[in-house]
Amino acid sequence: MADLDRIETLVRTGPDTVMGNYLRRYWVPALLESELPEAGSPPVRVKIMSEELIGFRDENNRIALIQEWCPHRGASLFFGRNEGEGLRCSFHGWMYDVSGQCIDMPSEPEQSRFRERISVISYPCEVRGGIIWAYMGPQGQRPPLPELEWSLLPETHRYCSMRIQESNYLQALEGGIDSSHVSFLHRDDLEKEPLFMAAKGNQYLRADTHPKFEVVESSGGLLIGARREAEEGYYYWRITQFILPWFTLIPPFGDHAMGGHAWVPIDDEHCLVWSINFHPSRPLTDHEIEGIKSGSGIHAALVPGTHKTVANKQNDYLVDRKAQREKLSYSGIFGVGMQDSAMQESIGPIQNRSREHLGTSDVGIVMARRRLAKAAIALRDENQKPPALDASSQKVRAASLLLPKGQSFAQGAEEVLVAGPDVMVATL
Ligand code: FES
Ligand SMILES: [Fe+2]
Repeated sequence: MADLDRIETLVRTGPDTVMGNYLRRYWVPALLESELPEAGSPPVRVKIMSEELIGFRDENNRIALIQEWCPHRGASLFFGRNEGEGLRCSFHGWMYDVSGQCIDMPSEPEQSRFRERISVISYPCEVRGGIIWAYMGPQGQRPPLPELEWSLLPETHRYCSMRIQESNYLQALEGGIDSSHVSFLHRDDLEKEPLFMAAKGNQYLRADTHPKFEVVESSGGLLIGARREAEEGYYYWRITQFILPWFTLIPPFGDHAMGGHAWVPIDDEHCLVWSINFHPSRPLTDHEIEGIKSGSGIHAALVPGTHKTVANKQNDYLVDRKAQREKLSYSGIFGVGMQDSAMQESIGPIQNRSREHLGTSDVGIVMARRRLAKAAIALRDENQKPPALDASSQKVRAASLLLPKGQSFAQGAEEVLVAGPDVMVATL
């Protein structure tokens, strides 16, 4: 497949697209659990892969995403009344349960059976790791729930935020696996950010801006190794995990809480950026949580009550030219998360890749595109089961460590790239 055809396939995720069909075979991180905190909570809007949906939790704590538009005359069910056994449209009172079935139609004669023929699209949801996950794929193909390490940790050991980004998910994901930008975009933040500072690896990151990339396929995605010069005879390796279809794990910085993302399409020009910090073996400290809540690290300060960022495209991300000039901030934009968002959005809603010039540091991006396209096309053409639906592909870790020169990174780090309570976290 020609490269640009592949890109066109990858960036379109609406219903009945190749990529959309593929992505719908996975559980989708759709809402924060706190958005539907209890039975009977008010319904919330969510858009995933160009489908406008409403999330609601019924009196039995069953959660579903249903289509936003009432099949009667199209009013938004966002304004519906959550009456426990179902969500009732505020226009003429038709009511739908979590399965999507219309269960009451008070505007029709009592003996009418019309309601039995009316239903809305409904996607089942489950809660794990503080997130409401939805399954939007065909019936009978629902995979087991995700087993990513962070999703299974106790609440005290993880923190998750979500923001809306004005860009296609693919260029956001590509930012997540491109570890060469850390030496530039984030270089002045490494010693300032509570979740990065004082990591020994920072000195290598700042000193060697020409990392060499090696990428190998893993069972569920890619291992993206970036090596930099370290003490004599050693390389400093940062190994990012890409787990199909949209998860990335950031190599750790010292013993700080680790980080990861999920990059989920809202529509072709917007995505949900899920940012997670977690520590496999200890609760996050108050200091870490304070930093996260204020929008530092991979998170961003949000306009209260929304998923919109305070710094955004309209205000040029509050760029501080003085800080940039005085070398206090490489980009002049505050916060690693916002720096990433700013760069990814500044590309445009969908990157015009016919104008790009990929270099040697972009090999991870090239391979991620191929891996995604291959999986989506194998599903379409051969009905091949998508990769990374199994726990072993998901229970993996990123790593940063020194390895002797000459040793392959995938072999040298093999034992620490697996997640598990007994596995040492490889941090530098
Ligand atoms: S539009 Fe919903 S009940 Fe009439
Ligand atoms: Fe970044």
